[in-house]
Amino acid sequence: MTDPHRPEADARPAAVLRGLGTFLPPRVVTNHELSERMDTSDEWIRTRTGIRERYWVEPGTATGDLAVEAGARALKSAGVDTVDAVVLATTTPDHPCPATAPWVAARLGLGRVPAYDIAAVCAGFVYALANAAGLILAGVADRVLVIGAETYSSILDPADRNTAVIFGDGAGAVVLEAGRADEPGALLGFDLGSDGGQHDLIAIPGGGSRQRSGGNPPDPAGSYFTMQGKRVFVQAVTSMGGSSRALLERLGWAGDTVDRLVGHQANVRILHAVADDLGIDRERAIVNLDRVGNTSAASIPLALADAAAAGDLRPGERVLLTAFGGGLAWGSTALVWPDINPNRHHPTRPERWTP
Ligand code: UT7
Repeated sequence: MTDPHRPEADARPAAVLRGLGTFLPPRVVTNHELSERMDTSDEWIRTRTGIRERYWVEPGTATGDLAVEAGARALKSAGVDTVDAVVLATTTPDHPCPATAPWVAARLGLGRVPAYDIAAVCAGFVYALANAAGLILAGVADRVLVIGAETYSSILDPADRNTAVIFGDGAGAVVLEAGRADEPGALLGFDLGSDGGQHDLIAIPGGGSRQRSGGNPPDPAGSYFTMQGKRVFVQAVTSMGGSSRALLERLGWAGDTVDRLVGHQANVRILHAVADDLGIDRERAIVNLDRVGNTSAASIPLALADAAAAGDLRPGERVLLTAFGGGLAWGSTALVWPDINPNRHHPTRPERWTP
């Protein structure tokens, strides 16, 4: 009988995960601290979202700085110091123009490689994985550094309790290399989608050509991040569930053969609803949002690294990644977890990195 956890010989080319690195900035912001600043409470935030604390950068630190830290750790984790391309997913680039990725590539000493940003908000990391896998399968690159990095603290309205209690800063990165579909770590397929008819559910309304070409003067209030939480909640559950189901069907994986569900860390109630929908035990849903909040494009790699460090993610396990966010945009991918050594910097939790 074939072992459902071991892919059968499959020589097709694939993008394979070889290294994982993460970085959180030093400043922890607890629910208690926020409840001193706005009309909220630790109890409300914990019971409605599952979040206990998150990390925010100190003034002067930007997304590119976090991306460099995570990227360097991913390269170390993979044991390499060169790549053929850098793909950075972010909603909070250092500047509206140019992209942040070329600066990150230069800071990492990676030379004149192609480097560009992906804008798919909280689904950004899965979109960036698909994009990097495309570069590899098209023969454009043999090795790609994929980074998800955010400084949401720079776009949150400090007076908006609907968003200010939810989002955190951080970065995570992986190294993908050309390999075979039957290797552990091979990305086995993707399901991606969007619904621009609901673009206004998650938005920074001002600062773009829509506002500027309308002749409207710059409006500082319009540069803050906004979210219609309740409507987003429903869309998150249905989109991540539907996308995951489509991918699992294509792979021939039944829900109960998935060892770990690593969903976008927005709300523990969403993660449990998606697990229920897919027939995956809730205990198999990785949760680290209690410690880092919603870190948007950085969420999936941070969850992977924390789970691996805690022993909740082991080589040979079947892992389903699924994410959802503004756009609306969503995406899923799957892999068998490889025997890698994540290099993780978590300011208040011990490191588990052994070179
Ligand atoms: O990362 C991209 C994807 N994002 C998501 O997936 C987020 C999805 N949405 C959510 O996770 C939830 O909708 C939230 C956590 C954002 C909000 O939770 P909710 O249970 O949907 O709350 P709500 O917005 O319906 O608000 C319920 C009540 C309201 O008071 P009333 O009208 O019932 O009196 C809010 O004013 O809770 C109030 N409220 C708060 N109270 C204390 C809203 N935010 C807060 C707060 N502290 N921070």
